[in-house]
Amino acid sequence: MAQLPRGSSTSRFYDFKVQTTRITKLCNTKNMVTINGIFPGPVIHAQEDDRIVVKVTNKTPYNTTIHWHGVRQRRSCWFDGPSYITQCPIQAGQTFTYDFTLVNQKGTFFWHAHVSWLRATVYGAFVVYPKTGVPYPFTYPHEEHIIILGEYWKQDVVQIERTTAASGGSPPVADAYTINGNPGPNYNCSNNDVYKIDVVPGKTYLLRLISAGLNSENFFAIANHKLTIVEADAEYTKPFTTDRVMLGPGQAINVLVTADQAIGKYSMAMGPYSSAKGAAFQDTLAIAHFKYLGAVTNSVSLPAQLPSVSDNLVVKTIMDGLRSLNPVNVPTEIDTNFFITIGLNVQKCHSKTPNQNCQGINHGVMAASMNNISFIMPKISLLEAYYKKINGSFTEDFPGVPLKFYDFVNGPNNIPNDTQSLNGTRVKILEYGSRVQLILQDTGTVTTENHPIHLHGFSFYVVGYGTGNYNPQAARFNLVDPPYMNTIGVPVGGWTAIRFVADNPGVWFMHCHLDIHQSWGLGTAFIVKNGKGEVETLPPPPADLPRC
Ligand code: C2O
Repeated sequence: MAQLPRGSSTSRFYDFKVQTTRITKLCNTKNMVTINGIFPGPVIHAQEDDRIVVKVTNKTPYNTTIHWHGVRQRRSCWFDGPSYITQCPIQAGQTFTYDFTLVNQKGTFFWHAHVSWLRATVYGAFVVYPKTGVPYPFTYPHEEHIIILGEYWKQDVVQIERTTAASGGSPPVADAYTINGNPGPNYNCSNNDVYKIDVVPGKTYLLRLISAGLNSENFFAIANHKLTIVEADAEYTKPFTTDRVMLGPGQAINVLVTADQAIGKYSMAMGPYSSAKGAAFQDTLAIAHFKYLGAVTNSVSLPAQLPSVSDNLVVKTIMDGLRSLNPVNVPTEIDTNFFITIGLNVQKCHSKTPNQNCQGINHGVMAASMNNISFIMPKISLLEAYYKKINGSFTEDFPGVPLKFYDFVNGPNNIPNDTQSLNGTRVKILEYGSRVQLILQDTGTVTTENHPIHLHGFSFYVVGYGTGNYNPQAARFNLVDPPYMNTIGVPVGGWTAIRFVADNPGVWFMHCHLDIHQSWGLGTAFIVKNGKGEVETLPPPPADLPRC
């Protein structure tokens, strides 16, 4: 892949002050971590191939980092942001400057903190326009709007994370869903906390939908209006018209919507997609308004219809509709083929105070894993350890296939005897340029569930998916126009096949973007070796790289 000349690109500078801000929502005031005191945080605007420079100053007592979700970070792995993977956290009082180029990338991205659960409040949109003079491949919208879906807790989220980890059990569900930070009228004290888009009858709008939720996947719809998907994870798609979309945390979908209904005020709704059996979820919808010019201000908002909370068929239908707009360059030959199970575990209780520390299912401790290995965060960043050849913080033996084969979707289910996982910081080494296929298989250990799996450093082609256990004889792949994504919801009790070329040297985290699953260990990392010459080699670390 040739790098475009840098000549036409611009450098864009941003100052991010990580600070505690007093926020009142849902009749509750708390100190919350924000960037520059804004929630959701400041929007980054750029154009394809621009260089982005963000100076992050941490004025809070918490550790922090920022990840630029979806940015492929070509030869700039040091600036990717996941704590303990590519960098140590930026500690209280310290500064780190992120500096990277959006090589061949445009569309809707977002940025978020990548330390503990700080990203519940530290997130914002990142919009990259095509180069000057390059049009969108669809009718130019009258206006564009960013819609970030989030989850809000009245309590301090870092505290919730600590309490949850200590309990061995599941976290409390969010107190509210939010649309651009606003819960909307269904929640207490939120009548004025409603996001609104004013629209002109007959005009078409581009909505940049981003899911910054922490632990839940969500449906989104606008009453009486069709949504036409034109982009997913910052890559154009063939236009696909639907009544609703589903976004897992980490996903971004651009839709066109035309104000073609009777003048009025229509609701935009965000509600839960909860595919895990028995899992708790917030069931009150976040509501925003899609208000026509000329509609009476107090007119009743027409309610939006969302699918039922476990409507897997709707999710499949949306996935079926995602096709790359242009012919793709999907690898047809594969050098490295992995089969990776993803799912939850319950480990046996070893605590002397089980009532406090073993509140998981059947008095066990909740965990999650890939190929039954629960990922443990190292004490120094993997990239530093790898680059500086510091021994002892990770091993290179992440298994390419499960250690044991069984009926993944339907068993084993003897909790917690058959549901142990091994703890470890195990990674996989990839040769530069290798063509990789991953089969991600959901397991029914504990419960099947749709998992939004995110890969750092790459986009990947989603060449196949299905329900049940993956069967290579029966699986059919789309090598013609698969979507090119960075986060994929692996179907509940099913599998997904993804392909990418490992041509970006560095250490790249792959994990479930439901933060609780990530905390429980649902992740691993790929180390992609340098190739030949300077353009295939990771440059040395920046001088201000934070120390642990
Ligand atoms: Cu959006 Cu590893 O994250």
